[in-house]
Formats: sequence, structure tokens, C-alpha cells
Amino acid sequence: MARRLTRHIVLIGMMGSGKTAIGGELARRLRVPFADSDAEIEAAAAMSISEIFARDGESFFRAREAQVLARLLAGRPGVISTGGGAWMQPANREAIAARGLSVWLNCDPETLWARVRQRPTRPLLQTPDPKGTLLRLLEERSPVYALAELQFQSRAGDSIEASTRRLIAALHVADPQLIEEKP
Ligand code: S3P
Repeated sequence: MARRLTRHIVLIGMMGSGKTAIGGELARRLRVPFADSDAEIEAAAAMSISEIFARDGESFFRAREAQVLARLLAGRPGVISTGGGAWMQPANREAIAARGLSVWLNCDPETLWARVRQRPTRPLLQTPDPKGTLLRLLEERSPVYALAELQFQSRAGDSIEASTRRLIAALHVADPQLIEEKP
């Protein structure tokens, strides 16, 4: 059965909350397009996120992020995973609200830390106290993440598949018109 989304599903939330993993699985199950804004930025720049931060700085990265997000939102509705800071920009929140359903993948701090500490790819965590930085960002950002249309708890013990099944059920409740089945 083919499916069509009436609007994008846009995953937001902290680094390590599972946006890319759950987003990819969600798109695969629904058979709709998937895009990860960080990966799109890296492909367009032919550089890694770390290299972009190091060479051009965070504000340059944020401008590219907004452009990429606007381009993805203008395309055929699918699942979009965003970088953890994208939702912090009011213009990005407006653009997402106009064309998509925002979902905050909320996750407890220890799980976030256990996941992000394994990979040194996040430039914002290249500080003397990366765990403290992560916890501070979580505290600052949580009230803004909470503005998302749907809040979903990403649980440490759940597999990607189990989380995705639970998310699909929550999406059906949040917007019964979101997923159209086409025979
Ligand atoms: C960032 C999160 C990263 C990436 C960049 C900045 C942030 O994406 O966009 O390093 O500000 O939280 P992930 O959330 O996919 O790690």
C-alpha cells in the first residue's frame, strides 16, 4: 500500500535523542522520503559539520542550516531530521509549522550523554566539560523544544524499531489526516 503524507514530519531535539536513527526507520516504514538536515549541509558544502564550524563558524553554519531546511520543507512531504539547534531559530520554527508536524524527541540526560560521548563529531561539545555543556544546552533548549506540536519520549531501553512503532501510533493520534493510504 502506497502512502502519502499531507505534511512533513519534522524531528527536533537534542543531539543523541535518536532523530536520525528513528527518522530513517520511520521514513522506511511509511515509504516516504527521508532527509537529515546535517547530512544535506555536509553534502552541499562537501565538508563535515566540524569542518564547517572550524572554518566558517557557527553563524555561517546556522545560515546554511536555515537554507537547507527551507529547501527540504518545499519538497514532497517526508520525514526530516534536524540538527539539535535548528529549532532554536524562530524563523525555522515558523517554516516548520507552515509545512510540517514538529515532533520533539525528548530523552533523559544520561541517555543523551551515553550516546554522544561515543562520537567526537559534535563541535559544540568540544569543551573542557562536554557533559556539563550538554546538560546546559538541554536545560536552555527544553522550554523551546516543548513548543513542538508533539512530544515523544525516546526511551533508553527501546530499540529503534519499537520506538518507531510507538511514534507512528502517536502520530496517528496527533493528526489522523497525516498519513494517507493510497490503494
Ligand atoms: C547541533 C547539533 C548537531 C549539528 C551541529 C549543532 C546543535 O546535530 O547540527 O553539531 O546545535 O545541537 P545533531 O542534533 O544531529 O547531533
